[in-house]
Amino acid sequence: MATGLLHLHNLLRWVVLIFALLTLIKGFSGMSGKKAFTAGDKKTAMFLMISCDIQLLLGLALYFMKGWFNVLTSGSEFMKLPAQRFFALEHAVGMIIAIVLVHIGYAATKKNVADGTKFKKMFWFTLIAFIIIMATIPWPSREAIGRPMFPGMTVGA
Ligand code: HEM
Repeated sequence: MATGLLHLHNLLRWVVLIFALLTLIKGFSGMSGKKAFTAGDKKTAMFLMISCDIQLLLGLALYFMKGWFNVLTSGSEFMKLPAQRFFALEHAVGMIIAIVLVHIGYAATKKNVADGTKFKKMFWFTLIAFIIIMATIPWPSREAIGRPMFPGMTVGA
């Protein structure tokens, strides 16, 4: 079960990244011109938020199923071990912060404010979230914590 969820969590990372890039492109092109904020712009930000929320649920399930919560509560020794520190703390906390920012960016698109303001807020909150997500993904090249690019692949393949 945990393996299936891990594969899904791995794959969904690409959905998150694609919607984050689309949201950034739409936000940027809107804030630099005089475009109207459309339902399509809002939908892109919403799909990013939904994909992040699914990642949060899958991540939380994996966090408990794979014993990372026990690592976190087992004392401070794990902080000296990069892989343990990464999954028990850095990955989870970084991603939760990013997901909160994605929510704030989406909420801005629902407010009764000028279209330019919606584009700007959507862009800046998504940009900070995107940077955090990129920094806390266990890319295959990362020593000790590297994980495959796609489910079932081996690191370095
Ligand atoms: C946008 C949000 C997120 C993205 C893009 C993301 C991405 C990833 C990726 C690519 C992996 C490696 C998968 C593999 O080994 O095949 C992973 C593993 C994992 N993530 Fe996330 N993650 C996100 C959010 C979260 C959150 C919020 C949590 C916990 C609260 C979490 C907990 C975990 C855990 C426990 C693992 C597995 C570690 C293990 O193999 O034991 N993730 N994540």
